[in-house]
Parts: sequence; C-alpha cells; structure tokens
Amino acid sequence: MDTLQNFLRTDYCGNFRASHVGQEISVCGWVQRQRNLGGLIFVDLRDRTGLIQLSFDDSTAKEVFEKAASLRSEYVVAATGVVRERESKNPDMPTGDIEVKVTDLRLLAKAETPPFEIVENSDVKDAVRLKYRYLDLRRPDMQRTIALRHKIVKICRDYFDENGFLEIETPILTKSTPEGARDYLVPSRVHAGKFYALPQSPQQYKQLLMLSGFDRYFQIARCFRDEDLRADRQPEFTQIDLEMSFLNEEQIQTIQEGFLKRVFKEILDVDVQTPFLRMPYREAMDRFGSDKPDMRFGFEIKDISDIVKDCGFGVFSGAVQGGGSVRLINVDGHAKDFPRKKIDKLGDFVKTYKAKGLAWARMVDGKVTSSYQKFLTDEENAAIIERANAKDGDLILIVGDVKDEVVFASLGALRIECAKQLGILDPMDFKFLWVTEFPMFEWSEEEGRYQAMHHPFTAPMIEDEDKMLTDKANCRARAYDIVLNGTELGGGSIRINTPEMQENAFQALGISDEDIQERFGHLVNAFKFGAPPHGGLAYGLDRLVMLMTGASSIRDVIAFPKVQNASDLMMSCPDVVDKKQLDDLAIAVTRMEEESAEETGE
Ligand code: AMO
Repeated sequence: MDTLQNFLRTDYCGNFRASHVGQEISVCGWVQRQRNLGGLIFVDLRDRTGLIQLSFDDSTAKEVFEKAASLRSEYVVAATGVVRERESKNPDMPTGDIEVKVTDLRLLAKAETPPFEIVENSDVKDAVRLKYRYLDLRRPDMQRTIALRHKIVKICRDYFDENGFLEIETPILTKSTPEGARDYLVPSRVHAGKFYALPQSPQQYKQLLMLSGFDRYFQIARCFRDEDLRADRQPEFTQIDLEMSFLNEEQIQTIQEGFLKRVFKEILDVDVQTPFLRMPYREAMDRFGSDKPDMRFGFEIKDISDIVKDCGFGVFSGAVQGGGSVRLINVDGHAKDFPRKKIDKLGDFVKTYKAKGLAWARMVDGKVTSSYQKFLTDEENAAIIERANAKDGDLILIVGDVKDEVVFASLGALRIECAKQLGILDPMDFKFLWVTEFPMFEWSEEEGRYQAMHHPFTAPMIEDEDKMLTDKANCRARAYDIVLNGTELGGGSIRINTPEMQENAFQALGISDEDIQERFGHLVNAFKFGAPPHGGLAYGLDRLVMLMTGASSIRDVIAFPKVQNASDLMMSCPDVVDKKQLDDLAIAVTRMEEESAEETGE
C-alpha cells in the first residue's frame, strides 16, 4: 500500500473546472468506477464534493497504468496529474469539461465489494442501509443532507449569538424532567440503587439559568425520550433550545421569525413572509381538526350539527343527540378525482381514526349523488350544500360521532389524505403558523387524570389563572407551537415564575406536596430567590432539517439514527453487558427480551 508522504491535496474533486486546464493538481478520494478500454483507463474519483475523471493512456508510465488497471470500486487513492480538456465532455457533471491526466497514483486502501452501490437515491432496503450506515453516508444525497444540517446549525449559532444569546451546556446525567415520555435511566455505581435520567429536554436547567440572570440562553441540545417511534420521532434527537427573560410571547415569537426567515433565505433562497399567522388552538381544531394544521390548502371543516340534529338519518342525529357532532369537509373541485371506489377506501381510512363510517355527496355535471340524501329532507340537503359552500365539481365528506375527538381526528387526517392523493402538497411551499392558547391540561384516559398539555412549568393565561384549580377543562395556557406544513416544528411557553403558582400547577396535576418537594423542590425553592418573568421554546432540529430537505423521515437527516424498535443496527445495541459490570452497578436482570424476530429496519 502507498502512503501520503509528500502528497498535498490541491482541492476537492468537485471543485475543478475548465479554468484549471494546464495546472498540475493533486486529488484524493474513493473510486466510483473504473473503465478499462484496453489502452485507455478512466477512473471516476469521488469525495464529498463530487466526482472528477482521472485518465491513463499509452503515454502514462507503465507502473502507474498497471496500478490504475488494478483499481476497483471504493478503493481509496490519491492522484497527481495535469488538468486537461476532455475529448468527450459530460454536461451532467460539474467537472464534466475536464479530466486529470495522471502522472502519480497512490493506492491508499483497498475495499471489498460494498453491499450496495454508492449512488444517489438508491432503493436499497433500510435495514441494509442502516447496518452499513458508514457506506450509506458516502452517497451524495446523504452527504448533502448532513452538510446542510451543519449549515443550519451554523446559522442558528450565528443568529442567536448576534441577538445576545449565550450558548450554555446543561447536564446529560440528570434528574427526570416530565415531558410526557418515559425516561432513559442510567444506573449510578457510586450510589447503588439510584439512577440518573437522561434529559427529555433541558427545561428545568434553562429556567434556572434565567434565574441566574443569563437572560438569553440557547443550546443545541441532545434529548432522550423512550417513546413509540414514528417517521418524525427518534429516541434521541436534537433540539434548538431557547429561553429568554423579560419578554412576552409576541416578542419571543418575533425573534424566532427572524431566525426562520434567515435560515430559509440562506439555505433554500426562500423568502418567508413574517409575521407568521397566529391561530388559537380551538380555532385550529375547529377549522382543521388538528393542532398542527397544514396551511398549504383548504378543505376546511364545517359543523353541520345544527342542521342534522333532528334529521331522519340516525347516524347523524344520533351523533349530535349523543353529545357529539357531525362535520364535513368540501374537497372542492375534486369530485371527479374521487370515484366511488376511492371514496370507499377513504371510508376505510377514517375507520382507522375510530370513525364508524364516511358519508359523502358528489356533485358532478349538475347532478348530486350522495350516500345520505335520501334520508334527509330537501331543505336539510340544501342547507348542508350551502354550509359546505359547495358547487358543481365538489365532493363533500361527512363524519359524525358521539365523540368530538373522533370527528376532528378523522376529518383532520382525511383532509390531508385527500390532499396527498391529489398530489397538491408542494414540499417547497412553506406555510408557517403559530398555534396559541393551548389548553393547560388534557385528560388522560389511560391515567384517569389531567396531565399538563405542554409541561407543568407553563403559565396559565392571565385571564384563566383562577381556573387552574377550579375549571381545568377550560384553563388555557400561555403556550405556543410553531407549525410548518402540518408538522410541529417546535413548542414553547411563558413559564410560571412564582413558587405559589408553581405549587398550584403541581397540585392541579395531582402531585402531592411531598412529591413536589422531592421531585421539584429545587425549582420551587429557586423561585423564592427572584425569578424573572421568562419563557422560551425548543425546535426539533431534525424535523427542521427534514422539512428543509424534503426528506420523508427524520432518519434520513441524522447520521446514525435508530430504527423503529429503538435499536442501532450498525452497532447492534442495546446489548447485554458483562456480569461484572452489572455487579458493579448492583443490578440484577430479572427478565430478558425474547429472541427478537429479524430486524426489518421498518
Ligand atoms: P416539546 O416536547 O414540544 O417541548 O419538544 C420540542 C420539539 O422537539 C421536537 N421533538 C422531537 N423530535 C424528534 N424526536 C422526538 N422524539 C421528539 N420529541 C420532540 C419537536 C418538538 O416540537 N422543553 C420543551 C420546550 C419548551 O417549552 O421550551 C419541549 O421539549 O419538534
């Protein structure tokens, strides 16, 4: 094998152009492919910037030519030679006008045939990609994504630095912070039987930093949550975490709008309009059936409960009389895109959201066909069409249920499903929205009690302060989410900053006085020493990168992600550890996982 002695790279492969013709240059990287045409050898050499063609012919020194003949894909080489104009140019390659006539070639490392070809957008199975993630990351699209992620973080650091924020690290070995998920625990060797928790977010530390007077904090913070994974969730993920003192929600949001405007301009050259639209939670639910509505299209939800409450169709009247509602969306202009068969499929779709069925009316060529009209009076049918603002060519889809949540969840999801099927969602159209006035508490069926909707440090709206203990269902919080194209990009709130209010909030959540002291004593006590009014938010960095790159999963924007069952296929972890390690930690394992089925990577 050759060495790099006396070798100095002139520049990356992808940076050479016709203006370099005649210059002697040195490049290094991986062999993308080698073509041996007998007396002529071409090698495409790849590094993180792209490809350049190396050429060898009958004027090349014999020893160099032979070495070139021995090259295989993914071998690592360094080459020196003279840039010359290509005989047949390749307009698809940025370096396609030139090639390097090699005079010195060094073989630095050989490579076995990789399990998949290192090319853009390969359709290799995820499980294979993730097992060989280091090879997957060699692919140009992955390289671009990871570089773009770096740039976003760089802009973030620059922007918040320029706006007076200090980057401060907070501990990874810490005490449980309740953000709604399970904690990852780390056993302590020194304190046998005790555990650290990995932070679900730096929430309490950043609030304490405000108390310390740092005034404006940010951190690119790694967070850990043991929760069920989805396409936009990972067990460890990164937040852009922020906290500010002496500002109200609008002022905090304005700073964020400046950040997002800058990132989108610098990275994608997209001009984002500010200020962003603001919408109370209740309105978002009523109009879009979601607290993170996608604002790129309409199909808004309308309530028709008043029209059908006494109608002859039991499915509708029963829903209203049972305490629920009947609502519709108008997929306007698209009746012809949804023939009966497709509507039946939409019926199956809403059933996955616990709806019992889907009623519909298609208005095509001046005629209305419908699944429900024969059960209703002419006046009722006409009133529905009027409420839907429907005209010829439109499709009305209706869900009724005794539970409002079911109606909102089904129609909210259906709205998006229709837009997806119609292909009207442009990933490069960015519609931001602040959702505000979230409920302070939400009822948990599972736990049989109220839980904090954001987290227990969130302040109630000033006019709802009295409701915190007396009318939890109607108490609204000073919480806000930043939503982009139907994804919750970030969330935050103005915080409680007095010990009395914080104790009330814990009490409202049913946490006993003893538990308050034990779990949150540090925070409540700290508030006795002069806590400024403060608030903040955290963005999911991975989600931001995902939306900016158009990736369909956050896995594609994280260098080393985990799969659905939270394992790392490359490192094969989690894994068993030596008995000695367990003994040191005073831990006995009482139950082992069944031998798991083959990991699919799904
Ligand atoms: P929250 O829990 O809403 O708020 O989280 C903030 C943002 O973090 C991202 N996020 C995730 N991203 C990937 N995988 C996950 N498992 C995951 N969970 C959350 C989302 C989300 O909007 N401490 C508060 C913030 C605050 O009040 O300042 C918090 O963590 O984009």
